[in-house]
Amino acid sequence: MSLYRNSIWFMNGLQQYTRKGYETASKVFEPQDLNVSIVGRSFMITGANSGIGKATAIAVAKKGGTVHMVCRNRDRAEEAKVDIVSESGNTEVYIHIVDMSETRKVWEFAEAFKEQYQSLNVLINNAGCMVNNREMNAEGLEMNFATNTMGMLILTQSLIPLLRKSRDPRVITVSSGGMLVQKLRVDDLQSEKGYFDGVMVYAQNKRQQVVLTQQWAEAFPVIHFSAMHPGWVDTPAVSASMPQFHQMMGERLRSVEQGADTVLWLAVSKAAARTLSGQFFQDRAPVPAHLPLAWTHSSAEEIQSFMTQLETLARALLPDVEHESFQTSICIKPVTDQFKHQD
Ligand SMILES: NC(=O)c1ccc[n+]([C@@H]2O[C@H](COP(=O)([O-])OP(=O)(O)OC[C@H]3O[C@@H](n4cnc5c(N)ncnc54)[C@H](OP(=O)(O)O)[C@@H]3O)[C@@H](O)[C@H]2O)c1
Repeated sequence: MSLYRNSIWFMNGLQQYTRKGYETASKVFEPQDLNVSIVGRSFMITGANSGIGKATAIAVAKKGGTVHMVCRNRDRAEEAKVDIVSESGNTEVYIHIVDMSETRKVWEFAEAFKEQYQSLNVLINNAGCMVNNREMNAEGLEMNFATNTMGMLILTQSLIPLLRKSRDPRVITVSSGGMLVQKLRVDDLQSEKGYFDGVMVYAQNKRQQVVLTQQWAEAFPVIHFSAMHPGWVDTPAVSASMPQFHQMMGERLRSVEQGADTVLWLAVSKAAARTLSGQFFQDRAPVPAHLPLAWTHSSAEEIQSFMTQLETLARALLPDVEHESFQTSICIKPVTDQFKHQD
């Protein structure tokens, strides 16, 4: 069954996720959607030093937005900042050094950011990794889960009070179409059971991001949440983590600008703000978060279990955290009618 499902997914990807897929989809894009002024609006982008994150940062800076780059390596961040500033002519670009796999550091950063800044209009959860061997971080979390799920969860949850008081707040999470072949594995969130397949672990994390996006949308209606798939994009992550795929796809991979297009559209356009919060997007349109007839839907109980486990983990990792906003913003809600078609 899963081989059949994965084959359908791959064939679909060859049509839609490639450069050609983007060119076809973009024929119906409304060019004026991106014709907006974002001067005075601030955008936090994790992993802004490379690939899709950097292309998004350049596009946001070109439109006059303030960019907060969240990166783990100072040299790479400084180098990217030079490019972002020189390509955009915008000097409102700030670097924050945070390793998204270190839960406590992520939380400390978010808390300090809230103290320092009056508003944050858009959070773009872009940083992501595919570690192909089972590695643990210093906090005892599996590395992919720590970076792709726990880091983005803590960052988002901690920043919600700041986003909520900002104008037209949005949270965009760069997930992946790879999550379509995964059902939420609530009995094994950190991939401890069975054979460790980095690609599938990554896809499981990306499914977790999509479920979190739906849950947040229900819990925080003031903020517009979306998850998205950028397509198959030629970036260092792909060449390093999936070298065979990278070589096989070659010129068929999208450019970073093509991969960043929907991130930008979700972050700045009025059209995106009019869409239902909590959806999964591809090429500027909401798309189903499940393949046709797929067995990847989760029950309300499974989602409840997922959210409870995340909250338990967060409390165990940050036992001394008394911050009211963090504690009350951990949301556990059964999925309601609006996402039944997606989950
Ligand atoms: N490219 C694709 O085809 C594709 C498809 C679907 C989804 N995505 C998603 O797109 C997002 C961006 O990836 P990309 O393809 O643009 O790859 P990329 O160019 O390698 O960018 C990944 C970014 O994430 C950062 N990062 C990774 N681990 C981090 C950590 N622990 N703390 C802070 N930053 C960290 C990287 O920092 P360093 O430079 O320091 O490593 C880099 O800036 C990811 O979430 C990925 O899963 C990509």
